[in-house]
Amino acid sequence: MDHFTTHLLHLSTILLLLFRANSVVFVSSIGINYGQIANNLPPPEKVVPLVKSIGADKVKLYDSDPRVLKAFANTNIEFIVGIGNEYLSKLQDPSVAQSWVKSNVQPYLPATKITTITVGNEVLTFNDTSLSNCLLPAMQNIHTALVNLKLERQVTVTTAHSLAVLQTSYPPSAGAFREDLKQCLSPILDFLSKTCSPFLINAYPFFAYKGNSNEVSFEFVLFQPNAGIVDSGNNLHYDNMLFAQIDAVYAALGQLGYKKLPVQISETGWPSKGDDDEVGASPENAKKYNGNLLKVVNRKNGTPAMPDYDLNIFVFALFNENLKPGPTSERNYGLFKPDRTPAYNLGFSGISAGSNSGHNNSGTFRPPYTLMPGNPSDGYMSISSAGRFVWKRSIRIRILMMLLMAVGWISMGFHV
Ligand SMILES: *[C@@H]1O[C@H](CO)[C@@H](O)[C@H](O)[C@H]1NC(C)=O
Ligand SMILES: *[C@@H]1O[C@H](CO)[C@@H](O)[C@H](O)[C@H]1NC(C)=O
Repeated sequence: MDHFTTHLLHLSTILLLLFRANSVVFVSSIGINYGQIANNLPPPEKVVPLVKSIGADKVKLYDSDPRVLKAFANTNIEFIVGIGNEYLSKLQDPSVAQSWVKSNVQPYLPATKITTITVGNEVLTFNDTSLSNCLLPAMQNIHTALVNLKLERQVTVTTAHSLAVLQTSYPPSAGAFREDLKQCLSPILDFLSKTCSPFLINAYPFFAYKGNSNEVSFEFVLFQPNAGIVDSGNNLHYDNMLFAQIDAVYAALGQLGYKKLPVQISETGWPSKGDDDEVGASPENAKKYNGNLLKVVNRKNGTPAMPDYDLNIFVFALFNENLKPGPTSERNYGLFKPDRTPAYNLGFSGISAGSNSGHNNSGTFRPPYTLMPGNPSDGYMSISSAGRFVWKRSIRIRILMMLLMAVGWISMGFHV
């Protein structure tokens, strides 16, 4: 074997390893919303194996429940913690924000991997301008508190929106924010962009279906095989409604100049039970929606308009929550009942739910993913989902640069 061929072999081995590493690191993953508006939920220690049984490696809370944050210490599961809308006005005071971070985030790091704080939930669609006006200053004060505590590289600050912030969502390429919200949204988007934080949206194809059940195809909504739709604006083909909704959000962000802001689906799901007028709420449909969603996430592709962007999806929700007000569906979004048995059979089988109740586990599902042997624990890779996204792009550039350097090195070696 001549010198050149040896170099070439070494080079291709290095490249192969790099690409393999790349594909191993970016395993698809799913997050789960852990809501607790209930009086019958199991203690958090018993919830840890349940979260693991569904292959979730991210959990989103609506508060910063210390029992949960302690129970999940050293599990390597990433956390989004939340601050309720009722605290926004208090957070106008920087010292309140500082003490909130000091007592609700700092003590749990690094054992519990808190990566994100959501300040408020669906604030803008309450149409309450005094509340909306508190949002950005509260986010900024929380961010400043993180900077003061040197935690801003580990923890990002954002807020979760309802899909109703969109005025137009169809076709996806025509996605646009509500005209009256743009003025309030723009500086928030600027903040997210400057702090490398994701844009969070709660998206429920269930509502779209419920409202237009004779226009929208059931298959399209439930990720079942179907002809799909073609976006007349850019000829992209969509075979499910969730992707159409996500791309409508990207289009709306693009209109305001923030096309590159990563979008995360902070909530999506399907109820297994509803009132008579809640068309589509059933265990069969919930099983199809959530089961197919997991398969779609496992395909590791982005959406048609943003194929290179990671899907970052949090299913709503872990448990049925018996104290939620509103229609019956509201109390029936859970994958699990409070006794930790599956609310319905999700279609995968085999793994223990971690429950010690002795029941047959065939109703729970196996994570359809290969988890990395030994998850990365260095700060670089664990900063946040947003950070991870940036890393994904930069490694591609790095590989390209290494390739160019290696070509130069080979040709030099060849001439020497
Ligand atoms: C908020 O305002 C929008 C636009 O004016 C309207 O469509 C929507 O129904 C309102 N939402 C609530 C909760 O009042
Ligand atoms: C559990 O269910 C599987 C398949 O449904 C069955 O083969 C197995 O015998 C059951 N185990 C118990 C302990 O009931």
